[in-house]
Amino acid sequence: MPALDIQSVTKSYNKLRVLDRVSAQIDKGELVTLLGPSGCGKTTLLRSIAGLADIDEGRIVLEGRDVTKVPIHKRGIAMVFQSHALFPHMSVADNVAFGLKMQGVGKAEREDRVKRALSLVRLDAYLTRMPHELSGGQQQRVAIARAIVTNPTALLLDEPFGALDRKLRETLQVELRRLTKELGITAIFVTHDQEEAVVLSDRVAVMNAGVIQQIAPAVDVYENPANEFVANFMGFQNIFDAKVRSAQELAIGDTVIATDKIDVAPGEGIRMAIRAERVSITAGHREGAIPGQVSSSTYLGEQNAYVVDTADGPVTARIPTSVARFSMGEAVSVSFDPAAVRVLAS
Ligand SMILES: Nc1ncnc2c1ncn2[C@@H]1O[C@H](COP(=O)(O)OP(=O)(O)OP(=O)(O)O)[C@@H](O)[C@H]1O
Ligand SMILES: [Mg+2]
Repeated sequence: MPALDIQSVTKSYNKLRVLDRVSAQIDKGELVTLLGPSGCGKTTLLRSIAGLADIDEGRIVLEGRDVTKVPIHKRGIAMVFQSHALFPHMSVADNVAFGLKMQGVGKAEREDRVKRALSLVRLDAYLTRMPHELSGGQQQRVAIARAIVTNPTALLLDEPFGALDRKLRETLQVELRRLTKELGITAIFVTHDQEEAVVLSDRVAVMNAGVIQQIAPAVDVYENPANEFVANFMGFQNIFDAKVRSAQELAIGDTVIATDKIDVAPGEGIRMAIRAERVSITAGHREGAIPGQVSSSTYLGEQNAYVVDTADGPVTARIPTSVARFSMGEAVSVSFDPAAVRVLAS
């Protein structure tokens, strides 16, 4: 039985469908990130799960219990928002204790649990501080402590580290992952940063226009995108039209390239994708590679990013600087690592 079962949830605002039959099953203790562009429905989905928004159709089932019609404070779900989450006039300890007080938990137990929650986010020395005396990262950690102190069935986090700088975000990502695993908390974490999603999650759900496009372990979403939207969003720089020639060959324009086995009938037109790191460049023109000219070169430290203009469109390649250098306008050929060519479902 999944800890959280989202069944065909549909929601519209002013006749605009914001969630379109969204389904997902999340296991106990699993951390799923919800990744997608601005406006695709991420916050609306979290609000629907929490009970902050009513849904038009579908069901939300929490540990076997249908909570679709259950009010927010009886669902046992905690939510952490992007910012401004703390009560400004309450100390750190009082902020964290707030939910327990509401539940009628006695003072001694409350103090115990508050201390434990704050030590889990490594802020046990900050009990008496006021929110304005904390850094942004510390405030978000208090918000997380406040969310977990009530032992929620599910923890929903809506871009909680969005306002923080990169380094702090990375530290908090590691801490949040450790924390949810230690406590066995089922969590959904919203972000629009694909790196954050890959680092944090057991599975990534990629969403667009109210629809989950793919939900799979991070490595699958990264390496085997289900369709063109996911490929684009996960940073595949090269996406082309191609024609299937045989079980292990594609034609891109006039060039035939080798691939791993393709499950599409010969003669079919498809879209294919390949990451820039898996493209190689050789000087001059040669068989089985696409001819072109170097039209841009960007130094990235360990790598150089090149754009090669070809008759079939620009191809982006990232080549380790230690391997080779090419100059602007140079006649070159680009070829693809056969194992890295992905055929996208339309
Ligand atoms: N209360 C509301 N009333 C009307 N429309 C709304 C409401 N809340 C959200 N929407 C619309 O629903 C769509 C999805 O919004 P949502 O906030 O879920 O997006 P999001 O994926 O969280 O985006 P972001 O990454 O920018 O936070 C948007 O088109 C938004 O304008
Ligand atoms: Mg949002």
